[in-house]
Amino acid sequence: MTTELAIIRPDDWHLHLRDGEMLKGVAPESARHFGRAIVMPNLVPPVVTKADAVAYRERILAALPAGSRFQPMMTLYLTEETDAADVAAAFEEKVALAVKLYPAGATTNSQSGVRDLDKVMGVLERMAEIGMTLCVHGEVTDPEVDIFDREAVFIEEVLDPLRQRLPELRVTMEHITTKNGVDYVTGADDNIAASITTHHLMINRNAILAGGIRPHYYCLPVAKRERHRLALRQAAISGDPRFFLGTDSAPHPTDAKESACGCAGIFTAPNTMSCLAHVFEEEGALGQLEGFASRHGADWYGLPVNEETITLTKRDEPVAYPPAVETGAGPVTVFDPMVELYWAVED
Ligand code: DOR
Ligand code: ZN
Repeated sequence: MTTELAIIRPDDWHLHLRDGEMLKGVAPESARHFGRAIVMPNLVPPVVTKADAVAYRERILAALPAGSRFQPMMTLYLTEETDAADVAAAFEEKVALAVKLYPAGATTNSQSGVRDLDKVMGVLERMAEIGMTLCVHGEVTDPEVDIFDREAVFIEEVLDPLRQRLPELRVTMEHITTKNGVDYVTGADDNIAASITTHHLMINRNAILAGGIRPHYYCLPVAKRERHRLALRQAAISGDPRFFLGTDSAPHPTDAKESACGCAGIFTAPNTMSCLAHVFEEEGALGQLEGFASRHGADWYGLPVNEETITLTKRDEPVAYPPAVETGAGPVTVFDPMVELYWAVED
């Protein structure tokens, strides 16, 4: 039985770090294990321009523990007013790695997102020319569409038509939650890839709704049926380089989750690597963990893999994580995977 596993230091290709006191509280949690992360731009106001990204990056670096080598990779929030030249400059000057498309109203702080794709085609065409990736929150926002169907409908009605219109555009389908997402990527060309979160490999929608309503399992896209979770697991362990880790660790103060209208987001930064080792071991696929967490995303974004390694060890006793991380913006509840975790990252 494997009890020690050294892998290239992982990266998190989808992360929310927020700002201010929350940023200070949560940034060290990601910097502890991850080499790099793609940082989401859905602040209030959002990170839209190159200048916004430069300033936000400085605030993130200032929030890291002394000596940390964690590298935040920035994204720009696509609006219908986004300037293609500014986006291109941000990419060429290595300020931003990707642009994020939030359909307006799809999730937390997406009000400034895109209502009409026609209005952003100029930006997308420029991105396709220069090889810049579009990171997509893949859910329709039509209130007539059931929340559990919003990803599947997005693929058919928005994503596939967009890719037919602009096949050269590189697209990351972020945090896929359905077999439809897995199948779409598997059957497509090499201009699309998908990130998968830690929590969507561990929970299905029963975690949120069966036996009581559990707001700490609520996120967007919302967890789906068990058969979708199983499809995500198969994709993650498949070795297909188009699937990689993006935790979507999304901190909210605990009281904003435990509310009559609780926020979407699951905070997995502290225990993600323990959870993933658990999942990959369960699947008999520990050997695929490095590809999923440390190689595929870097390859997709055209970056070298990290030079350092981390070592995971399997303990005899469960590994204890604090139930919450204290921040200046209040406590943030840590994802409870509902199983004991035995894998620990050695510091
Ligand atoms: O659950 C989510 N939380 N999904 C998102 O797309 C946004 C995120 C957040 O910012 O809290
Ligand atoms: Zn997210």
